[in-house]
Amino acid sequence: MKIATTIAEIRALHAALIPGDTVGFVPTMGYLHAGHISLMEAARRENSIVAVSIFVNPTQFGPNEDFSRYPRDPERDLVMLGDAGVDWVFTPSVGEMYPDGFSTYVEVRGVTQRLEGEMRPGHFLGVATVVAKLFNIVRPTRAYFGQKDAQQAAVLRKMVADLAFPLQMVVVPTLREPDGLAMSSRNVYLALDERQAAVCLHRALSAARAQWRAGERRGSALRATMQAVLSAEPLARPDYVSVADPITLEELDDSGTATQALASLAVRIGKTRLIDNFVLADA
Ligand code: PAJ
Repeated sequence: MKIATTIAEIRALHAALIPGDTVGFVPTMGYLHAGHISLMEAARRENSIVAVSIFVNPTQFGPNEDFSRYPRDPERDLVMLGDAGVDWVFTPSVGEMYPDGFSTYVEVRGVTQRLEGEMRPGHFLGVATVVAKLFNIVRPTRAYFGQKDAQQAAVLRKMVADLAFPLQMVVVPTLREPDGLAMSSRNVYLALDERQAAVCLHRALSAARAQWRAGERRGSALRATMQAVLSAEPLARPDYVSVADPITLEELDDSGTATQALASLAVRIGKTRLIDNFVLADA
């Protein structure tokens, strides 16, 4: 496993590739868990080289968010990457990615204005900018993202299409704990009672899915079902509950004509903010 901390080192690894090599790239912020590893396994199946970046990107955190206390464990991450058979690891410093005078940002309009973008102004500006720069450094054949962050995947898909990045986007299903909680680096923040309460996100999504399968297609009814499940959990404070078009993220109306939808939610449990989603589709 080659560990690079500078752009020049990744460029050198690229220069040593042989014709026919393909690079599967998994960008992360570290503190790896089985969900991250599932993206690497998907990349391993489809590419001769698997590249992973670990970079806690300051520009995607708001002023009152958890950048400085975001969990970090670089030594453990490297062991997990070795076990996963990763070929290249890129762990740049903040100065390598954002040198003094850095002033170029990638703004994806429309799909960034809703849900997470509305609750976290500037978040997707930071995500799109860092991922665009990482794509230019790593130059992947395919890039792997988790369905867990559905809006992030939608924003980056739009960026790749609009700016003609020469790569294929792959979205991998959400890996969950046995009780349904989506795996997340932020789950370590949860105290025991909060961890038990956190299953309400999955419960709310499951209720909406059951209703969808029973034929309900009205956005307001599906959203009300999720809200009702959340209001039964005293520790849960929802930021938003959404049933929307999976591409544009426009909220589903009550015309009953939708054939697919993205049910998603963000919920605060204590000081921790959790997100999750299900894709609802006709069988
Ligand atoms: P991070 O939160 O570390 O997540 C890295 C990747 O792992 C993302 O594509 C995310 O959707 C995926 N992932 C997280 N939990 C998952 C789970 N339970 N199952 C499957 N995939 C999961 O997302 C980021 O970092 C950053 O915004 C980044 C894209 C690296 C840009 O800084």
